[in-house]
Amino acid sequence: METQRLLFRTHEPQDEPDFISMHTDPEVRRYVGGRAWPLEKARTRFREEYLGWPKETYGLWATILKEEKKYIGCCGLRAGDKKGEAHLGYYLAQPYWGRGFASEASLAFIGVAFTRLRLVRLLADVEKGNDASEHILQKFGFKYISREEIPASGRVINLYELTRSKWEKKSP
Ligand SMILES: CC(C)(COP(=O)(O)OP(=O)(O)OC[C@H]1O[C@@H](n2cnc3c(N)ncnc32)[C@H](O)[C@@H]1OP(=O)(O)O)[C@@H](O)C(=O)NCCC(=O)NCCS
Repeated sequence: METQRLLFRTHEPQDEPDFISMHTDPEVRRYVGGRAWPLEKARTRFREEYLGWPKETYGLWATILKEEKKYIGCCGLRAGDKKGEAHLGYYLAQPYWGRGFASEASLAFIGVAFTRLRLVRLLADVEKGNDASEHILQKFGFKYISREEIPASGRVINLYELTRSKWEKKSP
């Protein structure tokens, strides 16, 4: 799938260094787990869970900035626990923040979720304090529905939802 500036494809071997540098950056992991992955963990995760994936529809797609042919992160839909639901996810390398790429990717995957897959609702989990991410969700009409505190760390995860009916009312 492509948008104006981005291409989404399966992860390939040449993505490994950029994937590792993204997940070993403490700022990237600040609101997703709280700390940078050690190098070995990032390498293992890439080789075991990302390389060759996704194959179709669900998963976090390698996100390529078309103009630079550069791997800048991974975005996509994770299958939900219930039929008709999925979770929206996006992770970008820090040099590419603030240029509207997460918004562009989100809009594309919201379209996939509701138009192509005809899902009933999309969910998104965001750690409290991740203001940029919450802003993106709110911009597209996601509504806060609940919070969960992780007892071990005290971190608070806010759950947002966007229903297809709301999206269809909003879309032209
Ligand atoms: C969160 C993340 C995906 C945002 O990516 P991005 O490409 O910079 O996002 P965009 O440029 O599309 O949009 C950011 C929006 O948030 C706004 N924003 C940025 N920082 C903000 C802040 N501190 N408070 C409120 N809004 C903020 C921007 O102004 C922009 O709004 P606009 O579209 O109305 O102008 C990126 O920072 C990232 O990958 N972070 C690390 C991983 C992560 O946290 N992923 C999300 C897990 S829920």
